[in-house]
Amino acid sequence: MKSVDISNDITKILITRTQIDHRLDQLAAQISHDYAGDDHLLLISVLKGAVNTLVWLTQKMSIQAPIDFMSLSTYGSGTQSTGSITVRSDLTTDVSGRDVLIVEDIVDTGYTLTWLTDMLKKRGARSVKIMALVSKPARRTHPVDISYLGFEIPNDFIVGCGMDYDEKYRNLDCVAVLSPSVYSKKK
Ligand code: IMP
Ligand code: MG
Repeated sequence: MKSVDISNDITKILITRTQIDHRLDQLAAQISHDYAGDDHLLLISVLKGAVNTLVWLTQKMSIQAPIDFMSLSTYGSGTQSTGSITVRSDLTTDVSGRDVLIVEDIVDTGYTLTWLTDMLKKRGARSVKIMALVSKPARRTHPVDISYLGFEIPNDFIVGCGMDYDEKYRNLDCVAVLSPSVYSKKK
């Protein structure tokens, strides 16, 4: 992969590593409290963007819970939702009777989470709740109830903390605004 000059590609840092760390401390404590003693808890993350959030969050949780992953395709290599969801790889866990907590990186239009929540309920999950690191409420077309939210952010395309543009910038330890010049170059 070509090396990336991050300083040219990033407009600004929106949320610092320290701010994320502090907020995840709070959310992990809240989740650990709310699900204490619940043997049916199952954490589900959508690959690949949410992996970073899942790892960071679970390291801070004081309760144990199994994890599972789904790979969905909602974005190609661009910055706009394609409007259709494809399951690239499915869960390995039977969700019936489970209290599912979906751990997500970002809620944008809400389309993915609306689809996923419905699907998990159809498969018999006892409850389905959502944790998300960031949310862009201005972009919402499908209302989503986020029980545990890190930060509300403006309508910018962001990268870092697991979130990518064209498979790059996931390893930034902050949430940063990607310069529009990066994605306008591609067209
Ligand atoms: P939604 O279905 O529109 O809510 O978008 C869901 C997925 O789109 C997220 O889980 C991300 O993978 C991706 N996405 C949406 N906005 C951004 C962004 O600003 N940066 C990186 N990925 C994004
Ligand atoms: Mg995601």
